[in-house]
Amino acid sequence: MQSPVDPKSPIGVFDSGVGGLTVVRALMERLPFESIHYFGDTARVPYGVKSVQTIAHYTTQIAEFLLEKQVKVLIIACNTMAAVAAQRVVDLSPTPVLDVIEAGALAALAATRTYRIGVIGTPTTINSNAYARAIHNLSPNAHLTSQACALLVPLVEEGWLEHPVTRMTAQEYLKPVLAEQVDTLVLGCTHYPLLKPLLQEVAGPGVRLVDSAEAMAEQTATLLTDLKLHNPERVPPDYHFWVTDVPLRFQTIGERFLGRSLNNVHVISW
Ligand code: DGL
Repeated sequence: MQSPVDPKSPIGVFDSGVGGLTVVRALMERLPFESIHYFGDTARVPYGVKSVQTIAHYTTQIAEFLLEKQVKVLIIACNTMAAVAAQRVVDLSPTPVLDVIEAGALAALAATRTYRIGVIGTPTTINSNAYARAIHNLSPNAHLTSQACALLVPLVEEGWLEHPVTRMTAQEYLKPVLAEQVDTLVLGCTHYPLLKPLLQEVAGPGVRLVDSAEAMAEQTATLLTDLKLHNPERVPPDYHFWVTDVPLRFQTIGERFLGRSLNNVHVISW
C-alpha cells in the first residue's frame, strides 16, 4: 500500500507552553534535516493542574491545528496531555502519533537494572497513573513509585535551575521516591530536563535519570526509519513556532528551553 504521507512534510510537536521545546531541541539534534512545526498553548498553560475534560478539549484543538499543516507525524510533547488525552489524538489523526509517556516508559525499562523505578510529573500526570500503566504493560513486575511535583514547573519558568530553593524543593519531593531504592527516575514533565544536573545531585550517582525528551527523539527517529518517512532532502529545515500568547520573558524562557535563538514565532488567537 502506498503511504499517503509525504516524507518532506514537517513533524508536528505540541505542548501546553514552551516546555515542549526540550523535545524540539532533542529532535533538532537527533534529526537535523527534519522541519518542525511546534505549537505551545502559552495563553492557557499550565495544564498540569487542570481537569481531564479541559485538557482533552484543548488537546483536540491543537492536534487539529497541526494536522491542517500536513504534518507527517504528530508528537505529544506534553506529559500531561499525553497522560489524559493521547487516545483522543490517535483517534482523530490520520498520521502516526507518538507521545512522551510511551517513550519514557520504554527508556525507563531499558535503563533499569533492579526494576525499581521512580516517576515525577505534574499532579494531573501522576494522578492519571499513565506512566504506571505504560510501564506495567511492558513489564508487569516493575515496582513503581510516583511523585507529583507541582512546584517544579514554576521554579523552572523562573529560571531557578540551580537555586537553593529548587534544591530544597527537589529534596523534599524525592525523599519518598529515593526511600523506595529506585535505580531509575523518569523525568515525566517537559520542564524537568532543565533540572537534570540538580536532580542528579539530589538523587545521587546510583540513580539513572530518564529524560523523556531524548527518549522521544530516539523513538521518532525509529518511527521515521520504519515508515520510510525521513526527509530525503539535505537542506536546512524550516522551524515554525505557533503560540497562543507571547508572555513576558517568552523569548528568554523559550531560548533557554531550545538552547538556541527562537525565530519564526507566530501568535494565533483562539
Ligand atoms: N507540559 C507540562 C507537562 O509536561 C508541564 C507544564 C504544564 O503544567 O502545563 O506535564
